[in-house]
Amino acid sequence: MNKIIEKAKLTHELTKDEILMLLENDNINEELFKAADYIREKYLGNVVNLRGLIEFTNICKRNCMYCGLRRDNKNLKRYRLTEDEIFDFASKAVNYGYKTIVLQGGEDDYFDVDKMTNIVKKIKSLGVALTLSLGEKTYEEYKAFKAAGADRYLIRIETTDKQLYTAMDPGMSFENRLECLDNLRKLGYEVGTGILVGLPNQTLDSIANDILFFKEIDADMIGIGPFIPNADTPLKDAEGGNLTLSLKVMAITRLILPDINIPATTAMESLAPNGRIKALQSGANVVMPNVTEGEYRKLYALYPGKICTGDTPSHCRGCITGKITAIGRSISDGYGFRGNSNVNSHDC
Ligand code: 5AD
Ligand code: SF4
Ligand code: FES
Repeated sequence: MNKIIEKAKLTHELTKDEILMLLENDNINEELFKAADYIREKYLGNVVNLRGLIEFTNICKRNCMYCGLRRDNKNLKRYRLTEDEIFDFASKAVNYGYKTIVLQGGEDDYFDVDKMTNIVKKIKSLGVALTLSLGEKTYEEYKAFKAAGADRYLIRIETTDKQLYTAMDPGMSFENRLECLDNLRKLGYEVGTGILVGLPNQTLDSIANDILFFKEIDADMIGIGPFIPNADTPLKDAEGGNLTLSLKVMAITRLILPDINIPATTAMESLAPNGRIKALQSGANVVMPNVTEGEYRKLYALYPGKICTGDTPSHCRGCITGKITAIGRSISDGYGFRGNSNVNSHDC
């Protein structure tokens, strides 16, 4: 088993069988986390990239079985930020020192190409990198957002098991999801994807395929989170994912894609106190604190127990800075594009 980890550290290549062995064996977990931490430091140094996350609409036309924002959930008060509110939250985030803004929302057709391109241009005028996470759009729409200045796009594949994908995301097409990722790449975005860990009927075999998929498409960013059952969804009685397996998937991903951006996800910390810190010490190099204000935070209810819903952007900024510096890391002052680190510059 040590040999597999050593091989991954040296070559950044693993076969499916090797990935499966790592996933199946829990005796090697600490060693795996240490190896991922070592590779993260070797390629990206000790800086952590922060992204300020604006959750700008919780209205969604999709019906994903696991998600609290699904259209059939009538127990959720819906909201849409105005363009002014979005710009206001983005400006404040810049004042807190964020160099990247992430605009995330449900698939809400109110925000059409004209509205989105306006918002993109306004935020870009603040001199930040901008990531969009708005779900499946057409090639032309992605092209318009890119032309307006968007730098990156996040769209998780959620699972590469087509049968499971179809069961989890009713009415959605796995092929279309792949095409979205392909289109984003062709348009020159930095492309982020990822999966949920612990979906009902998800196997370790399918997770091994997911990890190979990240490598195959050479993703620039991979977000991995445990699935947390939501009482307002059909999967309310499901078991859900656990932190350890999510961390393992993340650590293996770091070993085979050494220079990409990997966030310590909010869902990890929602499952376990300091889950994000454990993630930062197991291969992650990014944190995405919420910069949305007021009651919107708790209304962006993907899953229960989401951290920071009662906190302010200013509190979260201080909180995360404290946690990051307490483990001997520092906050990056760069834009945080792939492979961008302070190795051999600020730290020498
Ligand atoms: N638990 C954890 N993550 C979830 N997401 C949606 N619902 C849940 C849940 N119940 C994730 C999906 C989506 C991202 C925005 O939130 O992976 O891509
Ligand atoms: Fe909508 Fe995304 Fe939730 Fe699916 S996961 S219901 S697309 S917000
Ligand atoms: Fe929000 Fe710690 S990051 S309270």
